[in-house]
Amino acid sequence: MKPLKVTSNFEVYDAVEELPQAIQSLMKTAVEARDKAYAPYSQFKVGAAIALNNNEVVTGSNQENASYPSGLCAERTAIYYAGAAFPEAQIQNIAISAKSMKHLVEAPVPPCGACRQALVEYEVKQETDIAVYFMGETGKVMKANSIKDLLPLIFENSVL
Ligand code: THU
Repeated sequence: MKPLKVTSNFEVYDAVEELPQAIQSLMKTAVEARDKAYAPYSQFKVGAAIALNNNEVVTGSNQENASYPSGLCAERTAIYYAGAAFPEAQIQNIAISAKSMKHLVEAPVPPCGACRQALVEYEVKQETDIAVYFMGETGKVMKANSIKDLLPLIFENSVL
């Protein structure tokens, strides 16, 4: 037996104002998308904004359903929209913001496991890293330089 240590790297920003201007603007777009979420069941709204290398920005928000598992997270709504609308473009940055209608979300809200798997597919496809910035409604912002920092030991197409 040999132990294997897997490490992930993140950057933590004290507030959105600490981010580069372009990322602040992307986060603002994510917040606008968040406010369009359809989340009557969880009362938890998430928005995602994706910057592409063709200067387009695509957004997504969580879309819930009376049949709960049929709903979809903001991140997957956005990434599938990007893949469908601009299949040749490279994804550069994703900004994510989450807000509860019940309490103030001050801690950064990372993408769920299923979204991480969906996101890493595009990182593998385009062969360049995707940076992810995530936050709650206010407070600190965390950055991962690659989806692989959020999802080590990825399952990807080379094993198929
Ligand atoms: N949600 C997202 O949109 N993204 C995540 O990464 C985690 C969860 C949504 C799904 C559901 O509509 C609500 O947040 C509560 O789980």
